[in-house]
Amino acid sequence: MNRLSANKVVRWLVTGFIGALLVACYQLSGYLDQQLLNYKHFFYSQATFYRNSLSPSSCEAQNDKKFIILYWTKYYDYSKDFGNAGLGGKPFSHCGDNSGCLTTTDRGLLNDSDAVVFHARSINLSDLPQPGWRRPHQHFIFFEIESPAHVYKFQDLLFRNYFNRTMTYRRDSDVVYLETHGRVRCINSSTSCLDFPLASKSNIQNVFDPTDHFPINLTLKNQTAAWFVSNCHSDGVGGSRREFLVRNLSQFIPVDIYGGCATEESKKCPNRPVCNPMLSQYYRFYFCFENSLCPDYVTEKCYRPLAYDTVPVVYGGSDYSLYFPAGSYINAMDFDSPESLANYLKKLMTDDELYLSYFRWRRKYVVDLAPKDSWCQLCQMLRDPETKDKTYDIASWWSGETINQTCSLSPPKSLVFT
Ligand SMILES: *[C@@H]1O[C@H](CO)[C@@H](O)[C@H](O)[C@H]1NC(C)=O
Ligand SMILES: *[C@@H]1O[C@H](CO)[C@@H](O)[C@H](O)[C@H]1NC(C)=O
Ligand SMILES: *[C@@H]1O[C@H](CO)[C@@H](O)[C@H](O)[C@H]1NC(C)=O
Ligand SMILES: *[C@@H]1O[C@H](CO)[C@@H](O)[C@H](O)[C@H]1NC(C)=O
Ligand SMILES: *[C@@H]1O[C@H](CO)[C@@H](O)[C@H](O)[C@H]1NC(C)=O
Ligand SMILES: *[C@@H]1O[C@H](CO)[C@@H](O)[C@H](O)[C@H]1NC(C)=O
Ligand SMILES: *[C@@H]1O[C@H](CO)[C@@H](O)[C@H](O)[C@H]1NC(C)=O
Ligand SMILES: *[C@@H]1O[C@H](CO)[C@@H](O)[C@H](O)[C@H]1NC(C)=O
Repeated sequence: MNRLSANKVVRWLVTGFIGALLVACYQLSGYLDQQLLNYKHFFYSQATFYRNSLSPSSCEAQNDKKFIILYWTKYYDYSKDFGNAGLGGKPFSHCGDNSGCLTTTDRGLLNDSDAVVFHARSINLSDLPQPGWRRPHQHFIFFEIESPAHVYKFQDLLFRNYFNRTMTYRRDSDVVYLETHGRVRCINSSTSCLDFPLASKSNIQNVFDPTDHFPINLTLKNQTAAWFVSNCHSDGVGGSRREFLVRNLSQFIPVDIYGGCATEESKKCPNRPVCNPMLSQYYRFYFCFENSLCPDYVTEKCYRPLAYDTVPVVYGGSDYSLYFPAGSYINAMDFDSPESLANYLKKLMTDDELYLSYFRWRRKYVVDLAPKDSWCQLCQMLRDPETKDKTYDIASWWSGETINQTCSLSPPKSLVFT
Protein backbone atom coordinates (compact mmCIF):
# COMPACT_ATOMS: atom_id res chain seq x y z
CA MET A 1 0.00 0.00 0.00
CA ASN A 2 1.55 3.34 -0.99
CA ARG A 3 1.42 6.54 1.04
CA LEU A 4 -1.24 8.18 -1.04
CA SER A 5 -3.83 5.48 -0.61
CA ALA A 6 -2.99 5.12 3.11
CA ASN A 7 -3.72 8.82 3.47
CA LYS A 8 -7.00 8.32 1.66
CA VAL A 9 -7.96 5.55 4.03
CA VAL A 10 -7.16 7.70 7.06
CA ARG A 11 -9.15 10.61 5.60
CA TRP A 12 -12.03 8.29 4.86
CA LEU A 13 -11.99 6.93 8.39
CA VAL A 14 -11.88 10.42 9.94
CA THR A 15 -14.71 11.65 7.72
CA GLY A 16 -16.73 8.55 8.56
CA PHE A 17 -16.15 9.01 12.28
CA ILE A 18 -17.21 12.69 12.24
CA GLY A 19 -20.21 11.77 10.14
CA ALA A 20 -21.20 9.11 12.65
CA LEU A 21 -20.83 11.63 15.50
CA LEU A 22 -23.09 14.11 13.73
CA VAL A 23 -25.69 11.48 12.92
CA ALA A 24 -25.72 10.19 16.50
CA CYS A 25 -25.97 13.71 17.88
CA TYR A 26 -28.81 14.57 15.52
CA GLN A 27 -30.66 11.41 16.43
CA LEU A 28 -30.18 11.86 20.13
CA SER A 29 -31.25 15.48 20.16
CA GLY A 30 -34.86 14.93 19.30
CA TYR A 31 -35.66 12.73 16.34
CA LEU A 32 -35.10 9.45 18.08
CA ASP A 33 -37.18 6.97 16.24
CA GLN A 34 -38.18 3.38 16.25
CA GLN A 35 -34.77 2.25 15.09
CA LEU A 36 -33.14 3.96 17.99
CA LEU A 37 -35.50 2.20 20.34
CA ASN A 38 -34.58 -1.10 18.77
CA TYR A 39 -30.89 -0.44 19.29
CA LYS A 40 -31.41 1.28 22.58
CA HIS A 41 -28.62 -0.43 24.48
CA PHE A 42 -26.17 0.13 21.69
CA PHE A 43 -27.01 3.80 21.54
CA TYR A 44 -26.95 4.29 25.30
CA SER A 45 -23.35 3.14 25.37
CA GLN A 46 -22.54 5.37 22.40
CA ALA A 47 -24.23 8.30 24.13
CA THR A 48 -21.95 7.97 27.13
CA PHE A 49 -18.98 7.96 24.80
CA TYR A 50 -20.09 11.05 22.89
CA ARG A 51 -20.97 12.90 26.04
CA ASN A 52 -17.36 12.51 27.09
CA SER A 53 -15.92 13.42 23.75
CA LEU A 54 -18.05 16.41 22.73
CA SER A 55 -18.47 19.78 24.38
CA PRO A 56 -21.57 19.72 26.65
CA SER A 57 -23.53 22.36 24.69
CA SER A 58 -23.30 20.71 21.29
CA CYS A 59 -25.52 17.75 22.19
CA GLU A 60 -27.54 19.03 25.11
CA ALA A 61 -30.96 17.60 24.31
CA GLN A 62 -29.68 14.07 24.65
CA ASN A 63 -29.74 14.40 28.42
CA ASP A 64 -33.52 14.73 28.49
CA LYS A 65 -35.25 11.58 29.63
CA LYS A 66 -37.37 10.04 26.89
CA PHE A 67 -40.65 8.58 28.06
CA ILE A 68 -41.46 5.32 26.34
CA ILE A 69 -45.01 4.40 25.39
CA LEU A 70 -45.50 0.77 24.42
CA TYR A 71 -48.48 -0.23 22.28
CA TRP A 72 -49.11 -3.64 23.78
CA THR A 73 -52.03 -4.67 21.58
CA LYS A 74 -52.67 -4.10 17.95
CA TYR A 75 -55.26 -1.55 16.89
CA TYR A 76 -57.98 -3.81 15.50
CA ASP A 77 -56.36 -6.53 13.39
CA TYR A 78 -54.61 -4.61 10.76
CA SER A 79 -52.06 -2.16 11.91
CA LYS A 80 -48.57 -2.27 13.30
CA ASP A 81 -48.40 1.36 14.32
CA PHE A 82 -51.66 1.67 16.24
CA GLY A 83 -53.80 3.03 13.45
CA ASN A 84 -52.30 6.18 12.14
CA ALA A 85 -50.82 7.19 15.45
CA GLY A 86 -47.35 6.16 14.31
CA LEU A 87 -44.14 5.00 15.90
CA GLY A 88 -41.16 6.69 17.51
CA GLY A 89 -41.52 10.45 17.76
CA LYS A 90 -44.26 10.69 15.10
CA PRO A 91 -47.32 10.98 17.35
CA PHE A 92 -45.63 13.92 19.09
CA SER A 93 -43.98 15.67 16.16
CA HIS A 94 -46.50 18.52 16.26
CA CYS A 95 -46.63 18.87 20.06
CA GLY A 96 -43.98 21.55 20.37
CA ASP A 97 -41.69 21.78 23.42
CA ASN A 98 -39.62 18.82 22.16
CA SER A 99 -42.26 16.52 23.57
CA GLY A 100 -39.94 13.90 25.03
CA CYS A 101 -41.99 10.76 24.33
CA LEU A 102 -41.52 7.84 21.96
CA THR A 103 -43.87 5.06 20.98
CA THR A 104 -42.92 1.49 20.16
CA THR A 105 -44.41 -1.94 19.56
CA ASP A 106 -41.28 -3.71 20.83
CA ARG A 107 -42.37 -5.78 23.80
CA GLY A 108 -38.72 -6.20 24.77
CA LEU A 109 -38.98 -2.64 26.06
CA LEU A 110 -41.78 -3.45 28.50
CA ASN A 111 -39.60 -3.00 31.57
CA ASP A 112 -38.45 0.40 30.34
CA SER A 113 -41.90 1.64 29.33
CA ASP A 114 -43.55 4.49 31.18
CA ALA A 115 -46.93 3.74 29.68
CA VAL A 116 -48.42 0.58 28.16
CA VAL A 117 -51.39 1.17 25.88
CA PHE A 118 -54.14 -1.42 25.40
CA HIS A 119 -56.73 -1.04 22.65
CA ALA A 120 -59.57 -2.48 24.71
CA ARG A 121 -61.32 -4.20 21.84
CA SER A 122 -58.11 -5.94 20.78
CA ILE A 123 -57.14 -7.24 24.22
CA ASN A 124 -56.42 -10.97 24.33
CA LEU A 125 -56.71 -12.36 27.87
CA SER A 126 -54.02 -14.94 27.24
CA ASP A 127 -51.62 -12.37 25.88
CA LEU A 128 -51.07 -9.79 28.62
CA PRO A 129 -47.78 -8.57 30.14
CA GLN A 130 -46.23 -10.81 32.82
CA PRO A 131 -47.84 -9.62 36.08
CA GLY A 132 -44.54 -9.98 37.96
CA TRP A 133 -42.81 -7.51 35.69
CA ARG A 134 -45.14 -4.62 36.32
CA ARG A 135 -43.33 -1.49 37.46
CA PRO A 136 -45.14 0.74 40.00
CA HIS A 137 -44.48 3.94 38.03
CA GLN A 138 -45.94 2.50 34.81
CA HIS A 139 -49.32 3.65 33.56
CA PHE A 140 -51.44 0.92 32.02
CA ILE A 141 -53.77 2.74 29.65
CA PHE A 142 -57.27 1.71 28.64
CA PHE A 143 -57.75 2.96 25.06
CA GLU A 144 -61.02 2.70 23.14
CA ILE A 145 -62.88 4.59 20.42
CA GLU A 146 -66.06 2.56 20.26
CA SER A 147 -68.94 2.54 22.70
CA PRO A 148 -69.34 0.16 25.68
CA ALA A 149 -72.32 -1.33 23.86
CA HIS A 150 -69.86 -3.01 21.53
CA VAL A 151 -66.82 -3.49 23.76
CA TYR A 152 -67.86 -5.08 27.00
CA LYS A 153 -65.47 -7.81 28.11
CA PHE A 154 -63.94 -6.31 31.23
CA GLN A 155 -65.88 -8.12 33.92
CA ASP A 156 -62.90 -10.45 34.45
CA LEU A 157 -61.54 -9.97 37.98
CA LEU A 158 -58.10 -9.55 36.51
CA PHE A 159 -59.10 -6.10 35.25
CA ARG A 160 -60.48 -4.87 38.55
CA ASN A 161 -57.41 -2.81 39.49
CA TYR A 162 -55.51 -3.13 36.29
CA PHE A 163 -55.65 0.15 34.41
CA ASN A 164 -54.25 3.41 35.69
CA ARG A 165 -55.58 5.80 33.04
CA THR A 166 -58.28 5.99 30.42
CA MET A 167 -57.93 7.34 26.89
CA THR A 168 -61.32 7.24 25.16
CA TYR A 169 -63.81 9.54 23.43
CA ARG A 170 -65.57 10.11 26.77
CA ARG A 171 -65.23 13.55 28.32
CA ASP A 172 -64.42 12.05 31.71
CA SER A 173 -61.35 10.17 30.38
CA ASP A 174 -57.89 11.10 31.62
CA VAL A 175 -56.98 11.82 28.01
CA VAL A 176 -59.95 12.62 25.77
CA TYR A 177 -59.24 11.01 22.43
CA LEU A 178 -61.14 12.59 19.52
CA GLU A 179 -58.80 11.97 16.62
CA THR A 180 -61.10 9.45 14.93
CA HIS A 181 -64.24 11.42 15.84
CA GLY A 182 -63.70 15.17 15.47
CA ARG A 183 -64.30 18.42 17.29
CA VAL A 184 -65.51 21.96 16.73
CA ARG A 185 -62.99 24.69 17.43
CA CYS A 186 -63.06 28.45 17.79
CA ILE A 187 -61.62 30.35 14.82
CA ASN A 188 -60.06 32.79 17.26
CA SER A 189 -59.51 31.41 20.71
CA SER A 190 -60.47 33.90 23.36
CA THR A 191 -62.24 33.94 26.69
CA SER A 192 -65.56 34.44 24.92
CA CYS A 193 -65.16 31.33 22.77
CA LEU A 194 -64.52 27.78 23.95
CA ASP A 195 -63.68 24.75 21.84
CA PHE A 196 -66.19 21.90 21.80
CA PRO A 197 -66.79 19.48 23.41
CA LEU A 198 -67.34 21.66 26.45
CA ALA A 199 -66.34 20.49 29.89
CA SER A 200 -69.74 21.39 31.32
CA LYS A 201 -73.00 23.07 30.47
CA SER A 202 -72.37 26.24 32.43
CA ASN A 203 -69.68 27.33 29.98
CA ILE A 204 -71.97 27.73 27.02
CA GLN A 205 -72.28 31.15 25.48
CA ASN A 206 -73.47 30.95 21.91
CA VAL A 207 -75.09 34.13 20.76
CA PHE A 208 -75.28 34.69 17.05
CA ASP A 209 -76.50 37.69 15.13
CA PRO A 210 -80.11 36.85 14.18
CA THR A 211 -79.88 38.96 11.03
CA ASP A 212 -76.75 37.25 9.75
CA HIS A 213 -76.99 35.43 6.42
CA PHE A 214 -74.16 33.00 6.07
CA PRO A 215 -73.50 32.45 2.36
CA ILE A 216 -74.48 28.91 1.40
CA ASN A 217 -75.43 28.41 -2.24
CA LEU A 218 -78.87 26.80 -2.26
CA THR A 219 -79.36 26.78 -6.03
CA LEU A 220 -78.94 23.01 -6.36
CA LYS A 221 -79.64 22.07 -2.74
CA ASN A 222 -83.06 20.53 -3.27
CA GLN A 223 -82.43 16.98 -2.07
CA THR A 224 -83.65 16.29 1.44
CA ALA A 225 -81.60 13.80 3.41
CA ALA A 226 -78.54 11.64 2.87
CA TRP A 227 -77.66 8.75 5.14
CA PHE A 228 -74.23 7.16 4.86
CA VAL A 229 -74.12 3.80 6.55
CA SER A 230 -71.96 0.71 6.33
CA ASN A 231 -73.30 -1.26 9.27
CA CYS A 232 -76.85 -1.93 8.13
CA HIS A 233 -78.15 -3.48 11.34
CA SER A 234 -77.97 -1.91 14.79
CA ASP A 235 -80.66 -4.07 16.33
CA GLY A 236 -78.42 -6.28 18.48
CA VAL A 237 -78.10 -5.89 22.25
CA GLY A 238 -77.42 -2.23 23.04
CA GLY A 239 -78.14 -1.17 19.46
CA SER A 240 -79.92 2.08 18.68
CA ARG A 241 -82.19 0.52 16.04
CA ARG A 242 -81.56 3.56 13.88
CA GLU A 243 -82.60 1.74 10.71
CA PHE A 244 -86.15 1.55 12.03
CA LEU A 245 -86.21 5.29 12.54
CA VAL A 246 -84.89 5.82 9.01
CA ARG A 247 -87.43 3.44 7.55
CA ASN A 248 -90.20 5.35 9.24
CA LEU A 249 -88.87 8.79 8.24
CA SER A 250 -88.69 7.70 4.63
CA GLN A 251 -92.46 7.26 4.62
CA PHE A 252 -92.67 11.04 4.92
CA ILE A 253 -89.53 12.44 3.24
CA PRO A 254 -87.03 11.16 0.64
CA VAL A 255 -83.95 9.59 2.27
CA ASP A 256 -81.04 8.62 0.02
CA ILE A 257 -78.94 5.81 1.43
CA TYR A 258 -75.23 5.83 0.59
CA GLY A 259 -72.30 3.60 1.55
CA GLY A 260 -72.10 -0.12 2.19
CA CYS A 261 -75.85 -0.43 2.76
CA ALA A 262 -76.86 1.38 -0.42
CA THR A 263 -78.94 -0.69 -2.81
CA GLU A 264 -77.99 1.28 -5.93
CA GLU A 265 -74.46 0.71 -7.17
CA SER A 266 -73.97 4.43 -7.88
CA LYS A 267 -74.59 5.23 -4.22
CA LYS A 268 -72.02 2.83 -2.74
CA CYS A 269 -69.57 5.69 -2.66
CA PRO A 270 -66.49 3.70 -1.67
CA ASN A 271 -64.32 6.81 -1.86
CA ARG A 272 -65.80 9.14 0.71
CA PRO A 273 -63.84 12.30 -0.15
CA VAL A 274 -65.26 12.15 -3.67
CA CYS A 275 -68.80 12.17 -2.24
CA ASN A 276 -68.34 15.19 0.01
CA PRO A 277 -68.85 17.87 -2.68
CA MET A 278 -72.03 16.07 -3.69
CA LEU A 279 -73.28 16.27 -0.13
CA SER A 280 -72.47 19.92 0.07
CA GLN A 281 -74.05 20.77 -3.27
CA TYR A 282 -77.28 18.81 -3.27
CA TYR A 283 -78.37 17.82 0.26
CA ARG A 284 -79.89 19.86 3.05
CA PHE A 285 -79.64 17.20 5.77
CA TYR A 286 -77.40 14.39 6.80
CA PHE A 287 -78.44 11.72 9.27
CA CYS A 288 -75.92 11.26 12.02
CA PHE A 289 -77.56 8.30 13.73
CA GLU A 290 -75.27 6.46 16.13
CA ASN A 291 -75.33 2.67 16.41
CA SER A 292 -75.68 2.85 20.20
CA LEU A 293 -77.16 5.40 22.58
CA CYS A 294 -74.19 6.16 24.83
CA PRO A 295 -73.17 9.41 26.51
CA ASP A 296 -70.43 11.30 24.62
CA TYR A 297 -70.51 8.81 21.77
CA VAL A 298 -70.53 11.37 18.95
CA THR A 299 -68.74 9.94 15.94
CA GLU A 300 -67.18 11.34 12.81
CA LYS A 301 -70.46 11.04 10.95
CA CYS A 302 -71.70 14.18 12.72
CA TYR A 303 -68.66 16.26 11.86
CA ARG A 304 -68.79 15.45 8.19
CA PRO A 305 -72.00 17.35 7.39
CA LEU A 306 -70.84 20.28 9.52
CA ALA A 307 -67.67 20.43 7.42
CA TYR A 308 -69.61 20.11 4.14
CA ASP A 309 -72.39 22.69 4.28
CA THR A 310 -75.08 20.30 5.44
CA VAL A 311 -77.16 20.26 8.61
CA PRO A 312 -76.76 17.13 10.76
CA VAL A 313 -79.84 15.47 12.16
CA VAL A 314 -78.51 13.69 15.24
CA TYR A 315 -79.77 10.62 17.09
CA GLY A 316 -77.66 9.28 19.93
CA GLY A 317 -77.15 9.13 23.68
CA SER A 318 -75.18 12.34 24.13
CA ASP A 319 -75.97 15.79 25.36
CA TYR A 320 -75.28 17.36 21.97
CA SER A 321 -75.26 20.89 23.36
CA LEU A 322 -71.84 20.02 24.80
CA TYR A 323 -70.60 19.00 21.34
CA PHE A 324 -71.95 21.48 18.82
CA PRO A 325 -72.85 25.17 18.89
CA ALA A 326 -76.55 25.82 19.39
CA GLY A 327 -78.38 26.17 16.11
CA SER A 328 -75.98 24.02 14.08
CA TYR A 329 -77.87 20.72 14.27
CA ILE A 330 -81.30 19.14 14.73
CA ASN A 331 -81.79 16.52 17.44
CA ALA A 332 -84.27 13.76 16.65
CA MET A 333 -84.83 13.27 20.40
CA ASP A 334 -86.42 16.75 20.53
CA PHE A 335 -89.37 15.48 18.48
CA ASP A 336 -92.24 13.39 19.72
CA SER A 337 -92.56 11.25 16.58
CA PRO A 338 -90.80 10.49 13.29
CA GLU A 339 -93.60 12.30 11.54
CA SER A 340 -93.13 15.56 13.43
CA LEU A 341 -89.38 15.42 12.75
CA ALA A 342 -90.09 14.81 9.06
CA ASN A 343 -92.52 17.74 8.99
CA TYR A 344 -89.89 20.06 10.42
CA LEU A 345 -87.35 18.95 7.81
CA LYS A 346 -89.96 19.51 5.10
CA LYS A 347 -90.47 23.04 6.35
CA LEU A 348 -86.71 23.67 6.11
CA MET A 349 -86.74 22.47 2.49
CA THR A 350 -88.80 25.48 1.52
CA ASP A 351 -88.02 28.09 4.20
CA ASP A 352 -84.54 29.13 3.01
CA GLU A 353 -84.13 31.84 5.58
CA LEU A 354 -84.77 29.48 8.47
CA TYR A 355 -82.49 26.87 6.88
CA LEU A 356 -79.63 29.34 6.47
CA SER A 357 -79.88 30.30 10.13
CA TYR A 358 -78.35 26.86 10.83
CA PHE A 359 -75.00 28.11 9.50
CA ARG A 360 -74.46 31.18 11.68
CA TRP A 361 -72.09 29.25 13.96
CA ARG A 362 -69.60 29.19 11.08
CA ARG A 363 -68.67 32.83 11.75
CA LYS A 364 -67.09 31.73 15.01
CA TYR A 365 -66.13 28.06 14.65
CA VAL A 366 -64.46 25.57 12.33
CA VAL A 367 -64.61 21.79 12.22
CA ASP A 368 -61.46 19.85 13.01
CA LEU A 369 -62.04 16.40 11.51
CA ALA A 370 -58.95 14.80 13.07
CA PRO A 371 -57.84 16.66 16.20
CA LYS A 372 -54.29 15.65 17.03
CA ASP A 373 -53.89 16.81 20.61
CA SER A 374 -54.43 13.62 22.57
CA TRP A 375 -51.01 12.00 22.18
CA CYS A 376 -49.45 15.30 23.24
CA GLN A 377 -51.67 15.28 26.33
CA LEU A 378 -50.70 11.71 27.16
CA CYS A 379 -47.03 12.62 26.91
CA GLN A 380 -47.53 15.68 29.06
CA MET A 381 -49.29 13.58 31.69
CA LEU A 382 -46.40 11.11 31.81
CA ARG A 383 -43.84 13.89 32.11
CA ASP A 384 -45.71 15.85 34.75
CA PRO A 385 -44.17 15.09 38.16
CA GLU A 386 -47.48 16.14 39.75
CA THR A 387 -49.38 13.26 38.08
CA LYS A 388 -50.79 11.15 40.88
CA ASP A 389 -51.07 7.38 40.97
CA LYS A 390 -54.51 6.15 40.04
CA THR A 391 -56.22 2.80 39.53
CA TYR A 392 -59.57 2.06 37.88
CA ASP A 393 -62.21 -0.53 38.48
CA ILE A 394 -62.61 -0.46 34.72
CA ALA A 395 -65.79 -2.53 34.34
CA SER A 396 -67.72 -0.12 36.48
CA TRP A 397 -66.16 2.96 34.90
CA TRP A 398 -66.68 1.78 31.36
CA SER A 399 -70.15 0.37 31.74
CA GLY A 400 -71.19 3.14 34.04
CA GLU A 401 -72.06 1.72 37.42
CA THR A 402 -70.19 4.43 39.29
CA ILE A 403 -70.79 7.57 37.30
CA ASN A 404 -74.04 7.21 35.39
CA GLN A 405 -72.39 6.74 32.04
CA THR A 406 -74.68 3.85 31.29
CA CYS A 407 -75.81 3.56 27.70
CA SER A 408 -79.50 3.57 27.08
CA LEU A 409 -80.38 0.03 26.08
CA SER A 410 -83.84 0.76 24.79
CA PRO A 411 -84.43 3.31 22.04
CA PRO A 412 -87.15 5.90 22.75
CA LYS A 413 -90.58 4.42 22.06
CA SER A 414 -91.74 7.69 20.52
CA LEU A 415 -89.22 7.42 17.66
CA VAL A 416 -88.55 3.74 17.07
CA PHE A 417 -91.31 1.32 16.11
CA THR A 418 -90.12 -2.20 15.57
C1 LIG B 1 -38.22 -7.50 32.97
O1 LIG B 1 -37.76 -7.58 34.32
C2 LIG B 1 -37.87 -8.87 34.92
C3 LIG B 1 -37.44 -8.75 36.36
O2 LIG B 1 -38.28 -7.88 37.03
C4 LIG B 1 -37.01 -9.86 34.15
O3 LIG B 1 -37.15 -11.15 34.69
C5 LIG B 1 -37.45 -9.87 32.69
O4 LIG B 1 -36.63 -10.70 31.92
C6 LIG B 1 -37.42 -8.46 32.10
N1 LIG B 1 -38.04 -8.51 30.80
C7 LIG B 1 -37.51 -7.96 29.71
C8 LIG B 1 -38.29 -8.10 28.44
O5 LIG B 1 -36.47 -7.36 29.73
C1 LIG C 1 -54.43 -14.96 22.20
O1 LIG C 1 -53.12 -15.17 22.64
C2 LIG C 1 -52.75 -16.56 22.64
C3 LIG C 1 -51.38 -16.66 23.29
O2 LIG C 1 -50.46 -15.81 22.69
C4 LIG C 1 -52.76 -17.06 21.19
O3 LIG C 1 -52.44 -18.43 21.17
C5 LIG C 1 -54.15 -16.86 20.60
O4 LIG C 1 -54.17 -17.21 19.25
C6 LIG C 1 -54.58 -15.40 20.75
N1 LIG C 1 -55.97 -15.27 20.33
C7 LIG C 1 -56.35 -14.41 19.41
C8 LIG C 1 -57.82 -14.36 19.12
O5 LIG C 1 -55.58 -13.66 18.83
C1 LIG D 1 -74.68 28.85 -7.06
O1 LIG D 1 -74.59 27.62 -7.73
C2 LIG D 1 -75.06 27.68 -9.08
C3 LIG D 1 -75.06 26.28 -9.64
O2 LIG D 1 -73.83 25.64 -9.38
C4 LIG D 1 -74.18 28.62 -9.88
O3 LIG D 1 -74.66 28.70 -11.20
C5 LIG D 1 -74.21 30.02 -9.23
O4 LIG D 1 -73.31 30.88 -9.89
C6 LIG D 1 -73.84 29.92 -7.76
N1 LIG D 1 -74.07 31.21 -7.13
C7 LIG D 1 -73.12 31.84 -6.40
C8 LIG D 1 -73.52 33.14 -5.80
O5 LIG D 1 -72.01 31.37 -6.26
C1 LIG E 1 -83.61 19.58 -8.03
O1 LIG E 1 -83.21 20.57 -8.98
C2 LIG E 1 -82.81 20.02 -10.23
C3 LIG E 1 -82.25 21.14 -11.06
O2 LIG E 1 -82.96 22.32 -10.86
C4 LIG E 1 -84.00 19.31 -10.85
O3 LIG E 1 -83.61 18.73 -12.08
C5 LIG E 1 -84.49 18.21 -9.91
O4 LIG E 1 -85.65 17.61 -10.42
C6 LIG E 1 -84.79 18.78 -8.54
N1 LIG E 1 -85.08 17.70 -7.64
C7 LIG E 1 -86.06 17.74 -6.75
C8 LIG E 1 -86.18 16.55 -5.85
O5 LIG E 1 -86.82 18.69 -6.64
C1 LIG F 1 -93.94 5.58 11.97
O1 LIG F 1 -94.11 6.56 12.98
C2 LIG F 1 -95.45 6.90 13.24
C3 LIG F 1 -95.42 8.07 14.21
O2 LIG F 1 -94.82 9.19 13.60
C4 LIG F 1 -96.19 5.70 13.76
O3 LIG F 1 -97.53 6.02 14.02
C5 LIG F 1 -96.07 4.59 12.73
O4 LIG F 1 -96.66 3.39 13.24
C6 LIG F 1 -94.66 4.30 12.34
N1 LIG F 1 -94.64 3.40 11.22
C7 LIG F 1 -93.82 2.36 11.10
C8 LIG F 1 -93.93 1.53 9.88
O5 LIG F 1 -92.94 2.13 11.95
C1 LIG G 1 -60.01 36.66 14.35
O1 LIG G 1 -58.95 37.55 14.66
C2 LIG G 1 -58.49 38.29 13.53
C3 LIG G 1 -57.29 39.09 13.98
O2 LIG G 1 -57.48 39.64 15.24
C4 LIG G 1 -59.63 39.17 13.00
O3 LIG G 1 -59.18 39.88 11.88
C5 LIG G 1 -60.79 38.28 12.62
O4 LIG G 1 -61.88 39.06 12.22
C6 LIG G 1 -61.22 37.40 13.81
N1 LIG G 1 -62.23 36.46 13.36
C7 LIG G 1 -63.30 36.14 14.08
C8 LIG G 1 -64.22 35.13 13.49
O5 LIG G 1 -63.53 36.65 15.18
C1 LIG H 1 -51.14 1.45 38.48
O1 LIG H 1 -51.97 0.46 39.01
C2 LIG H 1 -51.26 -0.54 39.72
C3 LIG H 1 -52.23 -1.64 40.09
O2 LIG H 1 -53.27 -1.14 40.87
C4 LIG H 1 -50.58 0.12 40.93
O3 LIG H 1 -49.85 -0.85 41.62
C5 LIG H 1 -49.66 1.23 40.44
O4 LIG H 1 -49.10 1.90 41.55
C6 LIG H 1 -50.40 2.20 39.56
N1 LIG H 1 -49.46 3.11 38.98
C7 LIG H 1 -49.74 4.39 38.69
C8 LIG H 1 -48.65 5.19 38.05
O5 LIG H 1 -50.82 4.91 38.90
C1 LIG I 1 -76.81 8.51 39.10
O1 LIG I 1 -78.17 8.33 38.83
C2 LIG I 1 -78.96 8.06 39.98
C3 LIG I 1 -80.40 7.78 39.56
O2 LIG I 1 -80.53 7.68 38.18
C4 LIG I 1 -78.87 9.28 40.92
O3 LIG I 1 -79.62 9.02 42.10
C5 LIG I 1 -77.42 9.54 41.29
O4 LIG I 1 -77.32 10.72 42.06
C6 LIG I 1 -76.57 9.70 40.04
N1 LIG I 1 -75.16 9.76 40.41
C7 LIG I 1 -74.31 10.64 39.91
C8 LIG I 1 -72.90 10.56 40.37
O5 LIG I 1 -74.64 11.49 39.10
